[in-house]
Amino acid sequence: MADDYIIKDIALAEYGRKELDIAETEMPGLMSLREEYGDSKPLAGARIVGSLHMTIQTAVLIETLVALGADVRWASCNIFSTQDHAAAAIAKSGVPVFAIKGQSLVEHWDYLDRSFQFADGPNLILDDGGDATLYILLGARAEAGEDVIAVPQSEEEEAIKAQIAKRMKESPGWFTRMRDQIKGVSEETTTGVHRLYDLQRNGQLPFPAINVNDSVTKSKFDNKYGCKESLVDGIRRATDTMMAGKVAVVCGYGDVGKGSAASLSGAGARVKVTEADPICALQAAMDGFEVVLLEDVADTADIFITTTGNRDVIRIEHMRAMKDMAIVGNIGHFDNEIQVANLKNHKWTNIKDQVDMIEMPSGNRLILLSEGRLLNLGNATGHPSFVMSASFTNQVLAQIELWTRGGEYGNAVYILPKHLDEKVARLHLGRIGVKLTPLSKEQAAYIGVTPEGPFKPEHYRY
Ligand code: NAI
Repeated sequence: MADDYIIKDIALAEYGRKELDIAETEMPGLMSLREEYGDSKPLAGARIVGSLHMTIQTAVLIETLVALGADVRWASCNIFSTQDHAAAAIAKSGVPVFAIKGQSLVEHWDYLDRSFQFADGPNLILDDGGDATLYILLGARAEAGEDVIAVPQSEEEEAIKAQIAKRMKESPGWFTRMRDQIKGVSEETTTGVHRLYDLQRNGQLPFPAINVNDSVTKSKFDNKYGCKESLVDGIRRATDTMMAGKVAVVCGYGDVGKGSAASLSGAGARVKVTEADPICALQAAMDGFEVVLLEDVADTADIFITTTGNRDVIRIEHMRAMKDMAIVGNIGHFDNEIQVANLKNHKWTNIKDQVDMIEMPSGNRLILLSEGRLLNLGNATGHPSFVMSASFTNQVLAQIELWTRGGEYGNAVYILPKHLDEKVARLHLGRIGVKLTPLSKEQAAYIGVTPEGPFKPEHYRY
């Protein structure tokens, strides 16, 4: 179909293509999968719905899936994360894409719906945060007569429920048909993975799922080293504030929190951490960060960043206590980490796209980044290509696995085997000049491995 896309401006395609060409030189994992599988085309016949930030790095992922034989349709998984030149380059290449930086929530669900509209329907989902999976499963439950589209609790819910109602009216039985023909989903991030395990626990997962996030070469790299580069990038592009000397609070010290704290301290900020988990709290303390309660530092810190994947972490009472011009942002997947809804009746002054100044009743002002949505993608351009190459190489391997051997899996959540995790790492060594020490047979035997790997037992935690 001609012009089967919704993007900002197709004239941006040339700029997007130039950046794509550069990104390819930094994404050795994806490029070597193109070499390895370009001829055999293991994804031939696969029709993949992608719901993942439409960035330059994602464009390289999309073109890799296409090079391996897949048909692809794409939407972004966040209203602020699209890079319009990346979307333009993809549209120009003939892949249907529906994503505009700054799209509304209503458009978010409409675009996701459009990404499902293959002539024969899709058979695989590549998800980030679980919205594509949620859309289909919630719709199918609604078609089965469950009251899932009752009173919406938030703007977010209102938008998805309206879209489900619209699709049910236009195409009766559509969600159930989609659910039944999907052969599997690969999920990119911690929050989406939580949703999948919930579905599995409740016996509601209708197809196999591969948890890409918990490949070591994903969460211990993208979540950590990725945020280490992109958090401060986002704060700087949004505010140009001097980071050195400021007091920054990082809520959560999981993988994203560790990268975020490192990002801020690398920029010279004095970093404090809040945690709920004693192990992560101890790690933060032993990494040299003071571990505090948010209420004890709300009135003294300059920068507040949530990284928890949890809800209501920075609450209205914290924001009321903050000093004038405190910066508040989130790098976790959803915006509910900060109680942004409770700020809606305050005075907002838009400074520029994705930067707002909000006047509190005390007269103090807050700078809120990306309306509480993940700021490294809203205010900057997300993680650099190199680390996304590792994440997306896992994604492609997961899609190949689901497409070629999905029938061997049950309706449960799986992690890719360790030999593939090690393969992903191996593909990234040459680009940065890493030399691996080979193990002799005797050495390998002594530590209970083989010279070719896997080099660690399953229980090893890295
Ligand atoms: P994680 O589970 O490793 O870490 C989250 C940490 O937050 C845990 O240690 C937990 O104990 C802590 N926590 C939970 N509730 C808390 C509270 N109320 N106060 C303080 N700490 C609390 O998860 P991970 O992998 O670090 O991911 C965090 C979020 O970031 C998820 O939503 C994930 O999807 C998202 N993410 C975002 C990326 C980005 O580029 N913006 C990249 C990767 C993940």
